[in-house]
Amino acid sequence: MNILIMGPPGAGKGTQAESIVNEFGVPHISTGDAFRLAIKQGTPIGIKAKEYMDKGLLVPDDVTIGIVEERLQQSDCEKGFLLDGFPRTLSQAEALDDILSRLNTKLDHVINLRVDREKLMARLTGRRICKNCGATYHVLFNPPKQEGICDKCGGELYQRSDDQEESVGIRLDEYINKTAPLLTFYEQKGLLRQIDGDQEIGAVSTEIASVLRG
Ligand code: AP5
Ligand code: MG
Repeated sequence: MNILIMGPPGAGKGTQAESIVNEFGVPHISTGDAFRLAIKQGTPIGIKAKEYMDKGLLVPDDVTIGIVEERLQQSDCEKGFLLDGFPRTLSQAEALDDILSRLNTKLDHVINLRVDREKLMARLTGRRICKNCGATYHVLFNPPKQEGICDKCGGELYQRSDDQEESVGIRLDEYINKTAPLLTFYEQKGLLRQIDGDQEIGAVSTEIASVLRG
């Protein structure tokens, strides 16, 4: 099953990806995670991406599309995949169609998590992530059992550098201007399924699973 999860920054894409991966056994492909790893490793792509990410801006399409194209060709994607955070521009969406058609496959589901803008700021500024396994928490809405420590692996929790109020504002504007138009693109293809992302995390997962099971 080939799935795309969409939604504004903080809508819960990464959080819901954890449940989808557990239930459907597909690899999670997040361009944001791929860039953060490249930054940590100090690769040329990481150095380039950091310039944009720190400001809350989208990384240029040519850098981003190459990463996804390479990842989708790996053999674990043959049984399906979950894309999170890609595509984010119309050119990326068109490039994805081309890549998938060369691989003789296509998207099966596009899930859009809807959450009002006012709620997103609180979600992002309170987010914490495990340095070791990448699990996502929130200081108020989804706290770990022990402050600062991951429930799953005992790793240390950190705050993303683009989760400060100023970068979050820019990320939300980038979403409205460049990514939200993609919803029409996928609606016209008959693939888009809207999910209310402003519910308990478990309730959102249940709704997504029922859409994916058909
Ligand atoms: P990326 O890492 O993709 O960030 P994003 O899209 O801004 O989305 P987030 O990861 O911030 O939010 P999320 O929806 O995953 O929410 P989460 O589940 O964590 O991209 C980062 C940057 O990389 C971009 O700004 C750009 O520079 C670059 N980039 C990446 N892809 C790119 C592309 N294709 N093209 C160009 N540039 C690209 O949840 C958020 C918080 O809310 C957590 O604390 C969580 O615990 C909490 N929460 C989740 N669900 C709920 C709920 N139901 N109720 C209450 N709290 C909840
Ligand atoms: Mg995410």
